[in-house]
Amino acid sequence: MRNARHGMNNNYTFTFTLGGVLSRVFIEHELPAAEGIIGAGNGLLVCDTHTEPLARAIAGNRETPCCKLQAGETAKTWQSVETILKAAKDAGLSRDGVFIGVGGGVINDLTGFAASVYMRGAELCLVPSTLLAMVDAAVGGKTGFDLFGAKNFAGSFYPAARVYMPATSLRSLPAREWKSGAAELIKTAVLDTTGRLMEIMAEGDALKPLVSGGALPDTGILHEIIAQSVLVKGRIVEADPKETGSLRALLNLGHTFGHALEACAGLGALSHGEAVAWGMVRACELGLSLGRTPPARSGRIIGLIRSLGYETAAPHPLAQDIEAFLRVMAGDKKKKAGSLRLVVPDEAGAALVSAETPLLARIIGGR
Ligand SMILES: NC(=O)c1ccc[n+]([C@@H]2O[C@H](COP(=O)([O-])OP(=O)(O)OC[C@H]3O[C@@H](n4cnc5c(N)ncnc54)[C@H](O)[C@@H]3O)[C@@H](O)[C@H]2O)c1
Repeated sequence: MRNARHGMNNNYTFTFTLGGVLSRVFIEHELPAAEGIIGAGNGLLVCDTHTEPLARAIAGNRETPCCKLQAGETAKTWQSVETILKAAKDAGLSRDGVFIGVGGGVINDLTGFAASVYMRGAELCLVPSTLLAMVDAAVGGKTGFDLFGAKNFAGSFYPAARVYMPATSLRSLPAREWKSGAAELIKTAVLDTTGRLMEIMAEGDALKPLVSGGALPDTGILHEIIAQSVLVKGRIVEADPKETGSLRALLNLGHTFGHALEACAGLGALSHGEAVAWGMVRACELGLSLGRTPPARSGRIIGLIRSLGYETAAPHPLAQDIEAFLRVMAGDKKKKAGSLRLVVPDEAGAALVSAETPLLARIIGGR
């Protein structure tokens, strides 16, 4: 089931069913209030050092315990999960208590995982506060943390019951994080078979203010971009909630290259979006080589990525060892039946392909 309301103030509401679980998404300007999220029960806010002011604003006058973690990917650890679980226990959170993750993809993924295992599953609400978390991480039910040096090595599928996307929370977002989120937007636009997201983004250069670090873009356009992106991702994850089919795997466009780049550059050296943007360029080149990506489409996607100032050159300055890069790629957890599946843009969306190592080496090495 799914419905979208485009009411006054450009607000949207979507309801998705993910593996039998209802997940509602609210795209609104203002922050939600803890009062409304938790009701008469108890809850735990989870934030990081940068999103603490947002969590405090959500708590308002209500005494809601708050677990604050360090900011950034390096905090995406089992120790952080333990910290959240301990804070929930110390706060006396019962099984019907609510975990409220306020932050970017890291806080969303960590809070989601902690909620999924707390007393075998507590209610989860997310308040994504980065563009990337709004258009990607907070929708679709994937949770997790990094382990043994591998990104998202452990995790669960646990859709949030409610996701609040307050555009006002993005006011404090640094330019680098806008740029990181914009890469996921481009990915989603490539997957949008209606072409609508690409259209909205092209209108008046809508992405330019997103990456320039200037004022918050016009709320109407911002809400529309987020809403269309949520709709595209929502449709995909609803049809293939646990990535058992091939549909959800398309969301990995640029990610197999990108994850390997992040690992080779050292976790945290690049933002997730910067790595994905570079990976999408490699995916276009792979698609071109295999005859799956029309040259005009590849040119348009690469042109958009380049115009927003992402690193597009191969080899990447932070990952010059091609052998090491290939080894990391070969270990990618998205291998099925031993062969590496990669996603490349096709005429109107994207397709899964497999590729020989020598071709991958040429593409990663820029030869
Ligand atoms: N679960 C999924 O489906 C999914 C999808 C995509 C990405 N991810 C995960 O998301 C993570 C990346 O997310 P991210 O880019 O949001 O990273 P992040 O959570 O580290 O946030 C980036 C930085 O922005 C800060 N920040 C967050 N909100 C802010 C605000 N409103 N104002 C000022 N600063 C703010 C954070 O403290 C952090 O320093 C990765 O770990 C990735 O694996 C998950």
